[in-house]
Amino acid sequence: MVKIATKSIPTARLDGRFADLRAFRADPPTQLRKYKKKFGDTFHLDLIFQKAMVTSNPEVIRHVLQTNNKNYIKDLAYRKLKMALGNGLLMNEGESWMAQRRLAQPAFYKKRLEGLFDTMVETTGRFVSNFEQHRGSKTSINITSEMNIVTSDVALDTLLGGNRYGDNIDIQQTISRSQKYIVRRIRYPWATPMAYINGKHRQFKNDLQRFDKVVYDIINKYREEKTGGENHLLSMLFEARDEDTGEQMSDQQLRDELITIYVAGHETSANALSWTWYLLTQHPEIYERLKDEVRSTLGNRRPTLADLRAMPFARQVMEESMRLYPPAWVMGREALNDDEALGYPIPKNGIVIVSISNLHRDERYWENPNQFDPDRFAPERTKERHRGVYMPFGLGPRMCIGNNFALMEIQLIIMMMVQGFDFELDTEHLVVPEALITLRPKHGIKVFVK
Ligand code: HEM
Repeated sequence: MVKIATKSIPTARLDGRFADLRAFRADPPTQLRKYKKKFGDTFHLDLIFQKAMVTSNPEVIRHVLQTNNKNYIKDLAYRKLKMALGNGLLMNEGESWMAQRRLAQPAFYKKRLEGLFDTMVETTGRFVSNFEQHRGSKTSINITSEMNIVTSDVALDTLLGGNRYGDNIDIQQTISRSQKYIVRRIRYPWATPMAYINGKHRQFKNDLQRFDKVVYDIINKYREEKTGGENHLLSMLFEARDEDTGEQMSDQQLRDELITIYVAGHETSANALSWTWYLLTQHPEIYERLKDEVRSTLGNRRPTLADLRAMPFARQVMEESMRLYPPAWVMGREALNDDEALGYPIPKNGIVIVSISNLHRDERYWENPNQFDPDRFAPERTKERHRGVYMPFGLGPRMCIGNNFALMEIQLIIMMMVQGFDFELDTEHLVVPEALITLRPKHGIKVFVK
């Protein structure tokens, strides 16, 4: 039985003020921070086409994402992703999601992931050798594009092992084009009919078909030949059986999970890395400390799993970077039934936007919240921190399944890049955050490589 909620919620109203609306669309995290300052950690946002409750209150967040998570499904913006991701873990709901999560979870156990470490080192090593061409160049390079290349390669190699080679379709380009199309559909819903007229929708459908063909060919080939070794996620998902029923995933479900893992896994990590370089190149003393740790531990040799644990500062840098620039900066939910959280009413079909970016910079929990200070994540200070105020990977049962994968991958890439190169920020290049499903630098971040 839901109690009658009494607390009123202030409204940040954008209707009628197109300048506000434009500012909001241009840089949502900054605008949300301004509203929080004005209205507190929980407020309604009236976006003309949509009204939502935005919250960065840890108790309300816990209620929505964890305690009463069964009352919530992913919101409309997320649901648009279904066009490409189908019923993969990110989009699935209810019993079907639970069964899939149970099936996929073992592939992401720490021990199983450790089996992917050598592939990650191999792939990153190849990337680093290729990256050598940029050293000493007078022209700055877009490190964001580069980070997307390496994380896409790591995702494909660990997902498919040797199975992806020999296919002459560029998976990355096809998916990236589809992603852009979906993002436009979310951002400019009124332009959807145009996409049907100007051929963009047909192009999207064709891309998906091409992609599906490649994936189904890979699945069939794997079924027949069991190629590519066993140390990749495809084989783990392929062999996964439900504990109770003994059932395996259908081909359609395998396809949906593969594309979901690829999409959910590579751009988020690339953004985390990209923001890390941005922060490091602006904080020379922290950058020096990191270099010292990496270079004194590794010298010129390739990293091992044990090295990850032997470099606590590298981990702190990565955690602090995801505090300031959380790649998944909001999580949207829709209520199935009337609810209340901490006295705030949440009506049936009401939208709740969990603002991770506001939570991560809340001065009640973080001293000098806008300052880059990796020492906040030193073990003794982590122990003192208020619970539930840091969640780059979300919270509750829908929490990121790939969090350990991401932490291992990001730390490894930082280590191998710092081991070989020095970076200097190209300050002529304007860095503009762009926030839709993920938070990324709109035109990338540019650096000189030494
Ligand atoms: C820095 C990197 C990453 C960040 C910040 C991140 C963040 C998140 C967050 C916040 C969620 C929860 C979304 C919600 O509750 O609405 C999520 C879900 C998910 N992530 Fe990640 N992620 C990262 C990397 C990865 C990687 C590397 C993979 C796969 C290898 C992955 C696969 C997934 C999947 C499949 C889900 C859906 C889980 C479910 O609902 O059962 N993510 N991620």
